[in-house]
Amino acid sequence: FSAFLTDSFARQHNYLRISLTERCNLRCQYCMPPEGVPLSPSEQMLSTPELLRLTKLFVSEGIDKIRLTGGEPFIRKDLAHIVENIAAMGVKHIGITTNGLVLKQRLGELVTLGLTHINISLDTLVPQKFEFITRRKGHQRVMDGIQVALAAPLQAVKLNVVVMRGTNDDELVDFVRLTEQQPLDIRFIEYMPFDGNRWQAARMMPYSEMLSTITQKFPDTQRISDKPNDTSKAYKVPGFAGQFGFISSMTDNFCGSCNRLRLTADGSLKVCLFGPSEVSLRDAVRGGATDEELLALVGAAVRGKKKQHAGMAVLATQKNRPMILIDPSCVFQ
Ligand code: GTP
Ligand code: 5AD
Ligand code: SF4
Repeated sequence: FSAFLTDSFARQHNYLRISLTERCNLRCQYCMPPEGVPLSPSEQMLSTPELLRLTKLFVSEGIDKIRLTGGEPFIRKDLAHIVENIAAMGVKHIGITTNGLVLKQRLGELVTLGLTHINISLDTLVPQKFEFITRRKGHQRVMDGIQVALAAPLQAVKLNVVVMRGTNDDELVDFVRLTEQQPLDIRFIEYMPFDGNRWQAARMMPYSEMLSTITQKFPDTQRISDKPNDTSKAYKVPGFAGQFGFISSMTDNFCGSCNRLRLTADGSLKVCLFGPSEVSLRDAVRGGATDEELLALVGAAVRGKKKQHAGMAVLATQKNRPMILIDPSCVFQ
């Protein structure tokens, strides 16, 4: 495996998350303040040729899984062109994380061009609550989008549910019930702190508590095996078509098996979702860097990756980007 993509703890990074835009058509509470966040000037965004050049370089070093994120990736005008070009590089696993608002109109084309996986953010099954959490309308469109995704020839359709105590923690069992008939993989995510999201520890429900709420209703819930490098711990109610899992970034981190790198929409490489450390590949590209020089920068950043994130107490106070400026694609990871 490429030395440039191997860190000092022998973790091999074969998964690149690329944020295509800082913009979003929702305003989720856990992602950003009501007024949104200041956006970078457009000339600071990676152009599509710059983005594809960097992607190709990463692919040549062993990246074989790419996830397109945002902001909301469907806002990027040439999304289809980007998917088509990444598929032409031979990447077999191309995913997108989306808030699901426009899937009905837009998903078919992307699947034809090579999209293989989709993760959709949906935090509530109650329409009014959707408006409260996202500060916008659109619940029915997302519900319709999920059906469109399930009907498409994709390898997996996952739902991301950020669980916030007092907001949607009463819906855990309802979400699990969705997996009875539908082959969905529902991931319950521990609420994480980012700049501007007004995180409070008291609103973060540890996954162990979510699990015990679910097993009270479904006592025969089984732990099933996780895919390598998964963010989530997987479970299933026997006989149900789908499965569910927990992304426990806060109470039981999975940094030891991390295989991810992130490219932000403004062209910075972030080796960890948490933590302020980043290097601008955009500046290097615009300064005329050769592929070798770019790889040297990437290698140095990857070798500097920490063993694990700093822990909940530190994360709650440490400077980081707001989620929307990392790679939520909804929404973020
Ligand atoms: P798959 O490719 O399907 O495994 O998706 P994913 O879980 O990696 O990505 P997705 O975009 O669906 O993000 C789901 C949740 O996982 C988000 O809340 C992210 O915050 C979290 N997540 C994604 N990547 C990372 C990461 O590198 N570290 C941590 N701690 N959490 C992450
Ligand atoms: N905590 C946990 N998950 C978050 N996401 C966005 N912000 C947060 C947060 N503060 C999730 C979105 C999206 C995924 C990419 O990241 O719900 O599904
Ligand atoms: Fe919501 Fe995702 Fe948009 Fe953030 S990026 S506001 S989490 S849909």
